[in-house]
Amino acid sequence: MTKEIRKVAVIGAGTMGAGIAGQVANAGVNVLLLDLPSEGASVNALAERGMDRLRDPASPGLMSDEAGNRIEIGNTRDDFHKLADCDWVAEAIVERLDIKQDLYRRLNETCRDDVIVTSNTSTIPIRLLTEGLPKSFAERFAITHFFNPVRFMRLLELVRGEHTRDDIIKMFDTFCEQRLGKGVVICADTPGFLGNRVGVFAIQCALHTAFDMGLSPTEADALFSRPMGIPKTGVFGLYDLIGIDLMADVAQSLVNILPAHDAFHKYGNPLPLMTKMIADGQKGNKSGQGFYREKEGERQVLD
Ligand code: NAI
Repeated sequence: MTKEIRKVAVIGAGTMGAGIAGQVANAGVNVLLLDLPSEGASVNALAERGMDRLRDPASPGLMSDEAGNRIEIGNTRDDFHKLADCDWVAEAIVERLDIKQDLYRRLNETCRDDVIVTSNTSTIPIRLLTEGLPKSFAERFAITHFFNPVRFMRLLELVRGEHTRDDIIKMFDTFCEQRLGKGVVICADTPGFLGNRVGVFAIQCALHTAFDMGLSPTEADALFSRPMGIPKTGVFGLYDLIGIDLMADVAQSLVNILPAHDAFHKYGNPLPLMTKMIADGQKGNKSGQGFYREKEGERQVLD
């Protein structure tokens, strides 16, 4: 039977990992937040950046200083042994199957055999994530797909794989609803699940169409926003919120997984402009500039 969740490790302190760590800490549970080690002044610079974003008054992820104090930060080189204390390891690293699988192999080799592991993947089914790993790992593996921003988005997709134990799904259903305040939808193990199977198709289609029509982000977002039931950020603003690099990986992941006849293939490729922006470090809100940027308190469009 599953144990009570008393301590959670979140691996990946980016947009989502930091948000998940914050929400778990808001619920009164202790968290270990790990990212890759950094060169330079602080070995934990990436995890520290995640904490800075959580504490940013412009987009608060933490409900109190007390919640922030429940989060211990570290890195996956020096602090991996601390996972021994954790009951749930929530993976929120880049949307790349090979990199996620490397991490799971390491978790399988080093963690207690009753630790539950979940992924926050946007697109990749469990059958691919756990391919080549023992059944004993797949039995305690699920997807807990939070939406962005974690503190404010109620939806959580809970995905069970062929081998995921019933008691683990029941436990997350209750924990995420009652402790994390989420509205849990249990989804089948399919590419993109429910939200992204439809949502990523829609926003990729809107982006490509806007470019084909020669519309600027502001012109396109005047329509691709509230008037069409899309958040007020608009589609281009949504790319900035999600992360332009992440969206390129998400779309590529769906292209890799979906059969060749699927309609998504028409819109799956990143625009050449997105590839250039990623190379130039313009990855959206997390890097201070994407399709839009904040300058002197005003929202401006990329030059
Ligand atoms: P991000 O790019 O903001 O952060 C990823 C973090 O993972 C980075 O800090 C990076 O240094 C770290 N990382 C990369 N490889 C690592 C490794 N091997 N070990 C430890 N840390 C590692 O990405 P984001 O947006 O937080 O996405 C994370 C996951 O959540 C992805 O699977 C994504 O598809 C999913 N997701 C993202 C959403 C969004 O709106 N950004 C929404 C829902 C799901």
